[in-house]
Amino acid sequence: MKIVFFEIQDWEKEIIQRQFPDLELEFFKEPLTQHSIEKLKATDILSVFIYSKITRQMIHQLPNLKFITTRSTGFDHIDLEACRDNNIQVGNVPYYGENTVAEHTFGLILSLSRNIHKSYVRVQRNNFSTEGLKGFDLKDKTIGVIGTGRIGLHVIRMAGGFGMDILAYDINQDGFLAEVLGFEYVGLDEILKNSDVVTLHVPYNKHTHHMINQNNINKFKKGAILINTSRGGLIETEALLTGLKKEILSGVGLDVIEGEEYIIEDKQMIRDDEESEVWAQIVKDQMILHNENVVFTPHIAFYSQEALERILDTTIVNIRKFQKGEFTDSLV
Ligand code: NAI
Repeated sequence: MKIVFFEIQDWEKEIIQRQFPDLELEFFKEPLTQHSIEKLKATDILSVFIYSKITRQMIHQLPNLKFITTRSTGFDHIDLEACRDNNIQVGNVPYYGENTVAEHTFGLILSLSRNIHKSYVRVQRNNFSTEGLKGFDLKDKTIGVIGTGRIGLHVIRMAGGFGMDILAYDINQDGFLAEVLGFEYVGLDEILKNSDVVTLHVPYNKHTHHMINQNNINKFKKGAILINTSRGGLIETEALLTGLKKEILSGVGLDVIEGEEYIIEDKQMIRDDEESEVWAQIVKDQMILHNENVVFTPHIAFYSQEALERILDTTIVNIRKFQKGEFTDSLV
């Protein structure tokens, strides 16, 4: 059985080699692209991270492929329907520490609410002026949490610790948890209208694509902060530009942005037919990232030592279970 790992670091490679001494293993630091497919014909199992986009075309080119296990919670980079059609099982890491992403979310919120990012840049230039650095308290402000799953609920617990009022929006509601954790479910528009801080924690799919868009950006409370540590596609890029330009949003904290694969990894091949679209996206992203009211981190909300170890542990368990025919958590 041959297992190929993409987007893998050296320390992970050593652990995996110790765990699977009898299997044929291959490791690549870079993401899987159409260009690497030729070398993978005999692959039975693929393990990837989010910058490896697995398309139907690729799946057709891998006749032996039986199992894909992504070392992430999100799986929007894998064509699940194509996997289902070709009897390929798909595993992910459904949880590895909701605290990790929730802590990063609050890092972004605090950076914006207390102008930590602006202070840092000033001090680097030996400028110690406090002008324009007045922040605001989180206590008694309203946070709107969109998506009350594992990460969203942890954000809610932390927001409670800051003494914030908490509104939440989710298609699945748990009245008991709302009572215990002290938050209220409301509609999406109500969240946007009443929240000083809005934070996104829903998965990315066709229902959540551009959940924040040009039509509802005007519904935000004037001067609100918007945080996205989930997936870039949840926010229409133009809506971010509008929100910042019209000062509807006083700050934006992003760990993810539409088109991030082109600006972060710089490795993704741009197809000829999508070239102009991609360049337009890159220009818009650069305008956002260079705005002084935006704090951007390059998709690192999950990136703590503890979380990485838990991700690897689950991936190894996924592969072992699949080998024994005991993998029952397939996403398809
Ligand atoms: P989860 O599955 O526990 O929670 C998602 C919640 O969103 C659920 O309560 C679900 O009912 C709700 N939801 C789904 N569709 C919805 C819709 N259309 N409208 C409203 N609510 C909807 O997921 P978890 O673990 O909290 O993760 C959330 C997302 O965070 C992941 O899907 C992933 O994309 C992202 N993530 C980002 C990371 C990073 O490093 N930036 C790391 C880990 C996850």
